[in-house]
Amino acid sequence: MRNEDIAGLFDASGGGYESSAAELIQLAASELVERLELTSSDDFVDLGCGAGALIAQAEAKLTHGSAIGIDLSRVQLELARERFRLSPVQPLFVQEDAGANGLRNRSADAVGLGLVLPYADRPQQLLKEATRLTRLGGRVAATVIGSPFFGGPGTRLLGLLERRGVAWPEVELQFDPREAVRLALLCEIDDRRLDDVTIEEIEREFWWDDFDAWWRMLRLFGFLPRGRERMIESIGREMREDDRVVDPDGKVRCAVRIWLLSATVSEGDPWV
Ligand SMILES: C[S@@+](CC[C@H](N)C(=O)[O-])C[C@H]1O[C@@H](n2cnc3c(N)ncnc32)[C@H](O)[C@@H]1O
Repeated sequence: MRNEDIAGLFDASGGGYESSAAELIQLAASELVERLELTSSDDFVDLGCGAGALIAQAEAKLTHGSAIGIDLSRVQLELARERFRLSPVQPLFVQEDAGANGLRNRSADAVGLGLVLPYADRPQQLLKEATRLTRLGGRVAATVIGSPFFGGPGTRLLGLLERRGVAWPEVELQFDPREAVRLALLCEIDDRRLDDVTIEEIEREFWWDDFDAWWRMLRLFGFLPRGRERMIESIGREMREDDRVVDPDGKVRCAVRIWLLSATVSEGDPWV
């Protein structure tokens, strides 16, 4: 997606983004922060921080450290600043492209990318920036929502889009973990690279109280294609009546897979 479109999407989503999938976002953030193995004096950078879900998880560990969040969305950054107004960590929030940011080389001990990579046209650039920012031996971790997309209901949505000839949204919905590892392994910059790359899969069932709440979440994340509103509305109407999507109690239940990539930054030639 273009940076202006990403910023516009998350400006419009506002606080609704986190509240539309609070448990999912919190689980992904807490697992990611765990893989960063933070110590109390670490300097942490959160690329694509949104309203600060990762920093909220890291905050208690960074008693003598620092946190910087970078995001394109002015509104998400305002929410983040408000959220940490009274925090002892006093994170710094900067509005810029995480893939071309002005932070110094090797200025962080840990860099997180929470649910950000699928929005980038060039996700490798984001991982490269994470590598550039991290000191030797530091950690980089990233989460993406994996396939199948949002379990049965999500896969049904993709099938309907396909059948009606509607292009999938620009967000990369089917993120392939092998591709993520390949990107990570190609991330050499400034004689530094990502080493010990691992991908873990976390699968949990999440539910939304009714169809509207689920549909709203998809919209706020940018998971519904834009520009074909009438067709999308008609697909929404069809899905609302579909008992493979909505359970008898009205809830929408999805087995969601989160892929968690983590790595250590090292130096030198991997083949020597
Ligand atoms: C799905 S939200 C994730 C927010 C938060 N990291 C979390 O874990 O909930 C994606 C965020 O990444 C931001 N983003 C996407 N691409 C970006 C880029 N190239 N530079 C900075 N922010 C970006 C968006 O503005 C949005 O706030």
